[in-house]
Amino acid sequence: MGSHRVVKTADLPVGKRQIVYLEGRSIGVFNVNGTYCAIRNSCPHQGAPLCLGTVTGMTLPSLPTHPGEYLYGREGEILRCPWHGWEFDLTNGKSIYDPNKCLVKSYEVTVEPEESPGIETFPVTLEKGWVVVHI
Ligand code: FES
Repeated sequence: MGSHRVVKTADLPVGKRQIVYLEGRSIGVFNVNGTYCAIRNSCPHQGAPLCLGTVTGMTLPSLPTHPGEYLYGREGEILRCPWHGWEFDLTNGKSIYDPNKCLVKSYEVTVEPEESPGIETFPVTLEKGWVVVHI
């Protein structure tokens, strides 16, 4: 288990994904509305390459004051398996239909600043960085 630089933040804009191989595992790294998330690229149903699926939103439950009125939300947070359509929350790997029993492994992701390449140092502001996956 370790930390691995996988992609520069500039190369992974909102809504995009990168599939990487780390320590023998295929892992999908996603930019979910500005937050980086990583999940195992294997569907718990029948092992499909889950991270190749469609990123979408979902229908939200109706409000108690408006029964029968359903809203669409969470755009960009839901990953739909390409084989049979099971849906997972990209932010935690839990399935939508049974989040406590059916889930895919998720990994901690941090963003770390790029190092300055020179010997001299200068004031730096963070505009770019690395997405780092901790497995
Ligand atoms: S393999 Fe993913 S839903 Fe069946």
